[in-house]
Amino acid sequence: MKFEFIKYEKEPGDIGILTMNRPKVLNALSWQTLRELREFLENILPKESLKTLIFTGAGDKAFVAGADIAEMNKMNDQAFQEYVDFAHRVYELIENDPSPSIAAINGYALGGGCELALACDIRIASEKARLGFPEVKLGIFPGWGGTQRVTRVLGLGKTKELVFTGEMIDSQEALRIGLVERVVPNDRLMDEARSLALTIAKNGPRAVRMAKTAINSGSEMDLQRALLLEKTLVSLCFDSEDRIEGMTAFLEKRKPNFNGN
Ligand code: CAA
Repeated sequence: MKFEFIKYEKEPGDIGILTMNRPKVLNALSWQTLRELREFLENILPKESLKTLIFTGAGDKAFVAGADIAEMNKMNDQAFQEYVDFAHRVYELIENDPSPSIAAINGYALGGGCELALACDIRIASEKARLGFPEVKLGIFPGWGGTQRVTRVLGLGKTKELVFTGEMIDSQEALRIGLVERVVPNDRLMDEARSLALTIAKNGPRAVRMAKTAINSGSEMDLQRALLLEKTLVSLCFDSEDRIEGMTAFLEKRKPNFNGN
């Protein structure tokens, strides 16, 4: 499939940059954009052996301004349900990809756009980013994982405040409440995202992947089962070439040369 609305680039260090690319409509996620995203995530990403994937938006205004309102407005109930199902599948593919993802939020991240950022593992926002869930202003509510993923990050009260008011917050407020992990000057955003991605990429890939599974799956379990999962995964991690290399390199006072096995 030739991509029209997303753009993928692989950079040195096994870093990928995936840009939502419909700047005229603030990168709103149309059906076609979601199809391209799914094609990329299911059929291209697994072959790329990336260590980190960065999501961002084209143009200087938006990360993603949400689902495509013009398209949604023409949908009947069944088409809307299929659109929601499809978007859920795409966001689950992002969340469950073994390697970490970073949302580099370069402007508006609204509705489905903020939900996309929340499906990523780590969020960095530029100073001009604006985040929020304006769906109630349209007569719907965040339905691409927003009510669930946001609640897990912010807790019930803050989520309800954001979702019920539909008001946008700036990046400093997003940082204060834990909706993003870092805020950086606009012109530093991609450099910071790359630098974070490269820091992660230097570490044992198997260890990072297993830590992601332990954190994501464990956070959905009761503590006892989650701790059991952690013990199992860290033991599997110990039984690996990367662990031998990491510990040997430390003792030999050199940088490790991980192979991901
Ligand atoms: N869908 C489709 N088109 C959109 C869009 C969206 N989500 N957001 C912006 N656009 C389009 C505008 O219609 C406009 O198109 P035209 O030039 O053809 O008129 C273009 O992008 C530029 O937008 P504005 O002129 O509105 O730009 P602005 O700077 O004045 O305002 C904004 C920026 C505040 C982000 C405003 O565009 C806006 O409020 N957008 C909608 C945000 C929104 O409601 N998102 C939630 C969508 S619903 C959803 O995501 C459901 C879900 O849970 C999955």
